[in-house]
Amino acid sequence: MARRISIIGGGYVGLVSAVCFAKMGNSVEIIERDPWKVDTINAAIPPIYEKGLEDCLKSHAGKNLTATTSYTSILNTDITMICVGTPDQEDGSANLKYLEEACKSIGNELKNKRSNHLIIVKSTVPPGTTRNLVIPTVISSSLNNENIEFAFNPEFLREGRAIDDFFNPDRIIIGCENDRAEKIVLSLYHNIDAPKIRTSFCEAEMIKYASNAFLATKISFSNEIGNICKKLGIDVYKVMNGVGLDHRISPYFLNAGIGFGGSCFPKDIKCLINLAETEGEDPQLLKSVMDINSHQPLKLVELLIQRIDTLKHKRIALLGLAFKENTDDIRESRAIPVILELQKHGAIIAAYDPVAIPSMQKIVSNIEYCSTAAEALKGADAALVLTEWPEFRYLQKEFDQMKSKIIIEGRKILLYDDKEGICW
Ligand code: UGA
Repeated sequence: MARRISIIGGGYVGLVSAVCFAKMGNSVEIIERDPWKVDTINAAIPPIYEKGLEDCLKSHAGKNLTATTSYTSILNTDITMICVGTPDQEDGSANLKYLEEACKSIGNELKNKRSNHLIIVKSTVPPGTTRNLVIPTVISSSLNNENIEFAFNPEFLREGRAIDDFFNPDRIIIGCENDRAEKIVLSLYHNIDAPKIRTSFCEAEMIKYASNAFLATKISFSNEIGNICKKLGIDVYKVMNGVGLDHRISPYFLNAGIGFGGSCFPKDIKCLINLAETEGEDPQLLKSVMDINSHQPLKLVELLIQRIDTLKHKRIALLGLAFKENTDDIRESRAIPVILELQKHGAIIAAYDPVAIPSMQKIVSNIEYCSTAAEALKGADAALVLTEWPEFRYLQKEFDQMKSKIIIEGRKILLYDDKEGICW
């Protein structure tokens, strides 16, 4: 059965969810406070780079998918999904102000609604938030409208593969407290083949944090093993290939390198650490996961200094700026600490990324941005690979234009022979 859905927030999660629910035949309204984003979505131009998003928008924008800045659109729908950001604050805790504002606005619109309305929280929030913030804020702003129900339904979308992940999830988690809410959420995913699990609100909220923390732990673990392997002259990729074949471990997320970035892992782990400490716990493992992650980019520069002697006035080519391949997102990208460290040592930086240069230009201006890898490599004293963009795999003759061939991978991607890895 097609549903009428409003989605608060047209960011990665909101927009991807919106196009996917539209693709499934639902009628979707995005409520986004940024008028530029609203205009681009309505014009079927994706405001972010995400594989498959443009085609989806072209098929549905102006038909069963529209965007607006006005909350009154909620009244045309029966389900509202909250997909606003919950960025980290100085102390690591999640900033819930956008969530609270959204809840007030939703409640305000629903004051006079007589039919049932389901609110589904998708934003990543600390356990207890749906129960202690979302429900009371919506209920009081709606003047105790008893027709409103709630669910927490976390997303597990990876940037760059988000649309594919939406239609092929490993599981769908439904945190809710009554059968009616569960039934509606189940109906939204009725043609998606995946285990669907009902939990309490808090359990569902915690599943999201624990999943991200475990994945980040796998990466930092691989990096620690990789750092030991490097000292011993062992290839960590061959080691992890053997380790990952144990079905209890699985081969995924064991790629060693310069560590994890992005808008989720660092933020969510910091939040979990803050939550633990607030409760008087000392989350030693999580703190080590973050420490290893902060240190990896510096290790890359340390290795470069060992090979090049001094960085002063040396031209260093950076291949890749995005926090991972297939995205223009540079949030918490490991390229940022690498750039700062290189600059501290007086290096001259020539950077290339297929799509992330405009994003990086907004926060780093004093480096040379190149339009091809070849341009960055020409005359370079060394090259560092910071993102596993597929196009880097085939670079060969481009490296011949370097002044000296010191090539170090922070991400394992090159087929070119004359190179070494940060921990392989
Ligand atoms: C992550 C999770 O994978 C999603 O399941 C989750 O929904 C999302 O966060 C979120 O919380 O919204 P994402 O941040 O898009 O997704 O990126 P990942 O593909 O998980 O990669 C994160 C970082 O880890 C990247 O910098 C990547 O290069 C790095 N990584 C990943 C490694 O260093 N090694 C690996 O083996 C895998």
